[in-house]
Amino acid sequence: MSNKFRTIWLTEDKYVEVIDQRRLPHNVVNVKLTSYKDAELAIKNMTVRGAPLIGATAAYGIYLAVREMIEKQLDGNFLDEAFEALRNSRPTAINLFWALDRMKKALDLSEDFLQTAWIEAGKIVEEDVETCRMIGVHGLPIIEAISKRKKGEVVNILTHCNAGMLGCIEWGTITSPIYQAHQKGIKVHVWVDETRPRNQGSNLTAYELTRHGIDHSLIVDNTGGHLMQHGMVDMVIVGTDRTTRNGDVANKIGTYLKALAAKDNNIPFYVALPSTTLDMRIRDGLKEIPIEERDQDEVRYFEGKRFSDGEIDRVLICPETTKARNYGFDVTPARLVTALITERGVCEANEEGITNLFPEYK
Ligand code: MRU
Repeated sequence: MSNKFRTIWLTEDKYVEVIDQRRLPHNVVNVKLTSYKDAELAIKNMTVRGAPLIGATAAYGIYLAVREMIEKQLDGNFLDEAFEALRNSRPTAINLFWALDRMKKALDLSEDFLQTAWIEAGKIVEEDVETCRMIGVHGLPIIEAISKRKKGEVVNILTHCNAGMLGCIEWGTITSPIYQAHQKGIKVHVWVDETRPRNQGSNLTAYELTRHGIDHSLIVDNTGGHLMQHGMVDMVIVGTDRTTRNGDVANKIGTYLKALAAKDNNIPFYVALPSTTLDMRIRDGLKEIPIEERDQDEVRYFEGKRFSDGEIDRVLICPETTKARNYGFDVTPARLVTALITERGVCEANEEGITNLFPEYK
């Protein structure tokens, strides 16, 4: 894996740069973040997205706030405002709150705020790279076993949304085992759910699989069940924005339906996650995980590259007056999850399984 391709990095003048994921796959455009407000907006409008990357961007948002506070000789209220604004940028991914809490703790113990914020945010980024690599190390044997069972035939993997490197820093969570399997010469093919309405599947997952030379096919969100009924899916693997102590999993809207179909067809349903996505304070995902609701126009309009001249355009796909609801996430109950793949190993989606791997949460 080349570390030249990352989703967030520092510029020579020590500001932060990210890829504008709203412009992929047709345009690769970098955006410079020079203030916490830039970071807040980038999270809100989904310039950056995906639980680990949201956390990393928030951490660097705090670094940018500290820098501005010092440069403009502002008082501590400015930093408090930055924490508050970033906390409110998106509600579901727990990595956001985890990263902000970690930055706060580090700053509370520090005498050199700028240095501390810079170092801590950097650590969050570097740790995510290694964590995702390890998710791949532990997920690889699952793909290998299927490949062996199929006598080397192609392993068909279905995924929803983008839990790839674009949602993280490098490697990704669900893509790490896939990339490592591919590197080992195991034949894999990925069914990529389009993932309406923001199309993270068609815009992002398909983009990064193409970059890595992984065979894949794009499918509309309703296709998975049919493929599963016809033996065309060997495993499902998805990411998560928040996983509870009981193993309930919040992920992009539509994940639950894939888990139901997988259960009905006896297909293993895996969730790949860094432990930074665990929310061990809560148990019942359905009752306790806040589900983001976004602007209705994300549903009412479809965006893409115009066939006639290649320009990016938005088109209305319903009557002018039709209202829409746009829930960002749903919760898959633990009973539908075959196992969690983490940086410390694979475990059952329940308290015992999680705390065996992460005894610090017992
Ligand atoms: O709305 P998004 O694009 O931020 O949602 C992302 C997902 O649902 C991912 O599956 C999840 O954040 C895991 S990213 C490793």
